[in-house]
Formats: sequence, C-alpha cells, structure tokens
Amino acid sequence: MKVAVIGTGYVGLTTAVSLAMYGHEVVGIDLVEAKIAMLKQGLSPIYEPGLEKALVQVLQQGILTFSTDLKDAKDSEVLFVCVGTPEATDGTADLSYLLASISDIGVLHNNNPMVRTAVIKSTVPVGTGDRVAALLEDGQSLFVVSNPEFLREGNALADALKPSRIVIGANHQAARAVMERLYEGVAAPRVITTRANAELIKYASNAFLATRISFMNELSRLSTVLGTDILTVAQGMGLDSRIGPEFLRAGVGYGGSCFPKDTIALLQLAQEKGVSLSLLDKVREVNRSQPVWFMQQVRKHIPELKDKQIALLGLAFKPDTDDIREAPSLTIIEELKKSGAEIRAYDPIAAPAVQKLHPEVTYFDTPEEACKGAHAALLITEWKECIQLPWSVIHANMAQPALFDGRNAWPMNEVREAGFHYTGVGRS
Ligand SMILES: NC(=O)c1ccc[n+]([C@@H]2O[C@H](COP(=O)([O-])OP(=O)(O)OC[C@H]3O[C@@H](n4cnc5c(N)ncnc54)[C@H](O)[C@@H]3O)[C@@H](O)[C@H]2O)c1
Repeated sequence: MKVAVIGTGYVGLTTAVSLAMYGHEVVGIDLVEAKIAMLKQGLSPIYEPGLEKALVQVLQQGILTFSTDLKDAKDSEVLFVCVGTPEATDGTADLSYLLASISDIGVLHNNNPMVRTAVIKSTVPVGTGDRVAALLEDGQSLFVVSNPEFLREGNALADALKPSRIVIGANHQAARAVMERLYEGVAAPRVITTRANAELIKYASNAFLATRISFMNELSRLSTVLGTDILTVAQGMGLDSRIGPEFLRAGVGYGGSCFPKDTIALLQLAQEKGVSLSLLDKVREVNRSQPVWFMQQVRKHIPELKDKQIALLGLAFKPDTDDIREAPSLTIIEELKKSGAEIRAYDPIAAPAVQKLHPEVTYFDTPEEACKGAHAALLITEWKECIQLPWSVIHANMAQPALFDGRNAWPMNEVREAGFHYTGVGRS
C-alpha cells in the first residue's frame, strides 16, 4: 500500500521505517528541512537503537522516501499523523500541529481525490478523532481512524515491529478494512473499536503505568524508614500474576515526552467533564517530589553541598534514548545548583541536549572522569556504561566515595564491600 507518515519524530520515523519493513511504499513528511535532508542521507536525527541501520536498508530498497511537501503524498491511500501534541500552558494537549496537518490532508485530498484514510497516531484527548472526522470524513472517499502508538523510546523499532497490541478506532467498516490490510501479517492482538475508546485506551495505559511507578516511589520512602529493601519487595509483588513484574522499579521518578504530558492532559479532560481523578493527581504530585526526596537522601549524608563536586551519571529520561524532555536529571541539576554544588555530568548520548540548557555544568566523556574528585556520584539514568563501573578505580579517584543510586541499578553489596557509602531508593 502507498502510505504517508506526517511528522518524522520518535513515533513518525519509527512508524515510517517499520511500515516500509512490512513492505509498504512509504513517504515520510516533515516541516523541518534539516531533518528531511538528514533522513534522505540515511541519518537519523534521533538516537534509537537499530533505527538508523533499518532506515538505510529501506532507503536503499527505494521503499521509503522523504519530503517536506505533502504533495509528494498525493497517491497515498493511508496518511498517518504523527506530529507532536505537547502540553499547552494550561496542561491541555496542544492540538495546533495536529489540526494543521489535518487541514493539509484536506487540501491534498481535495486537489487529488481518491479513497483515503487519515490515521491519527499522535496521542490526543478523547473526542479529537470525532472532531477531526467532523472536519474531514465524508464516509465515501475520506475516513478518519484513531490508531494510538504504544512504542517505548529506547526500544521503539522492536516495539513497532512486534507491537503488544494494535488498537484501531474507526467508525466505518471501510476504514477498518483498510487498517486490517495495512497491518496484515503483523502478529499482535487487535482491539477494533470506536475512535473515542481507542483514544482513552492510550491515555489510560500511560496513566496506569505512571501510577505503578509513583506507587513504588512513594512506597520506597516508607521502605527507607523501615529499613526494608524495595527491590526484594517489588520482586515478591511482581510474582503475583495479577500484578506482574513490569513498572515496579522505584527510582527518581518518571520523565519523557509521554507520561508527564498525558497524565496532565487526562486530568484536564476529566476536569472539563466535571469528573475528579484524584488518584492521578497524587501520582503526578509524587512524581514531582521524587527527585526532591532523592536529593534529601543525598543531603542526609552530605548536609552541606556548597562547592562540593557532584557527579551525575546519566541525563536522558531513560537509557537508550537522547530524549531529555521532562527528564528527572533536569530537576536534580536545578536542586544541585540551588545548593551551590559543582556539577560534573556524563551521558553517552544526551549530554549535548542538556548542555544547551545548562552550559554551566561540566561534561565528561566517561563516567570514570565525571567521578574523578567528586564528593558524591548520583546515578540518574541506568545506561549500561553507567552501571558496569570499575569500582576500585572509581573509589580511588573520588574525593569522597559516596554513591546515591537513583535507579537501584548499582550492585549494593559489592560497592559497600569496596568501601563506598551507598544509598539507593528504598533500599538498605
Ligand atoms: N515519543 C514517544 O515515545 C511516544 C510514544 C507513543 C505516542 N507518542 C505520541 O506521538 C506523537 C508524536 O510524538 P514524538 O515523540 O514522535 O514527537 P516529536 O516531537 O519527536 O516529532 C513530531 C514531528 O512532527 C513534525 N511536525 C509538526 N507539525 C508538522 C506538520 N504540520 N507537518 C509535518 N510535520 C510536522 C515535527 O517537525 C517533528 O519532527 C505525540 O502525540 C506523542 O504523545 C509518543
């Protein structure tokens, strides 16, 4: 099938590459010329494991092309909308990019009539698909589908090629049939439903995952006081098949472009409808305070941080991504700056992005260098290269051998035996 993907960010580029790998003829469209120029050369503007290699392959096969002009999608039967829906100043989802691309699709369709399906992959508030359909859908030649995306950054291509589920919200049988044809051969459970249900599935999934994280983070505060080990507690909980082991890891809080903005957008939507989602409100509050609570644990051991050298290992919101949107590292940098500490940071991929925001931080090429002369090292993102460290070398080179493990990923017993002070999140 001929497919267009509008927006070539984390979701759009992954969607474009995976659809080409399924055998569709895909054109990726973006407004940003520099991005399209890079993509045409087989260079990925984002860091995502395996994505660039796959991109080069499908480019060479000629089944994926890129353009800044939607006219190059005039023959596309399916048009995916993968543009950003960031948080507006009032917490609602900013739909301006989405509505602009919908309007572009309307113009393209009027100028080049054929049967088409516009597929909203961006995360949008419940009712958006119906609102767009009222503008676009004629039930004859143009259909609107909601097909939310569940990929995880850092594992995006693998998730797109082997999705946990395919949710299709469509109010017309013809549109459902197009989507079945598009995803033919992709082994994943299907949920075929209305657009509104599909939209709520996406928000509810992210809100629920955020809830699990905040539950464990709040519990880790109790675990710290009780002297229990949250890792063992999580392991014991996760073995219950009704609970499962995923998303039970206590840490410095969730970040990224999805959980923070999708939880606030869901809260705003509920408020608009006169419904209180008080639990979700608390989830956000716990997440906001978790990096601050973590810094209090640091201060218990080092009460005066002024002029102390503090190493931050990991800056991206999670490993295997360059994404720093809403990353807990940014809150921790602010907290350290307020305390007058000198910050020494390392991240294998995301350092340049943080450097733009925080040129006053000193950046190093290895975790070992960042730790040299430091009075404490804080693990913020569990990159492989930040976990597997030569502990005796680190110990010998730190001014004060104190480790604060914001991801419970360092080997607690081993580092304590090596002579470090170790504080994890809810561990003792
Ligand atoms: N990033 C994730 O892990 C993830 C996962 C699931 C769902 N989502 C959702 O997917 C959507 C996209 O997220 P993202 O992280 O890929 O965003 P992104 O910011 O990385 O990419 C958006 C892209 O859209 C382009 N764009 C904006 N307006 C355009 C227009 N009118 N025409 C063409 N291109 C346009 C931008 O230049 C940018 O390249 C959001 O709604 C997000 O909530 C994201």
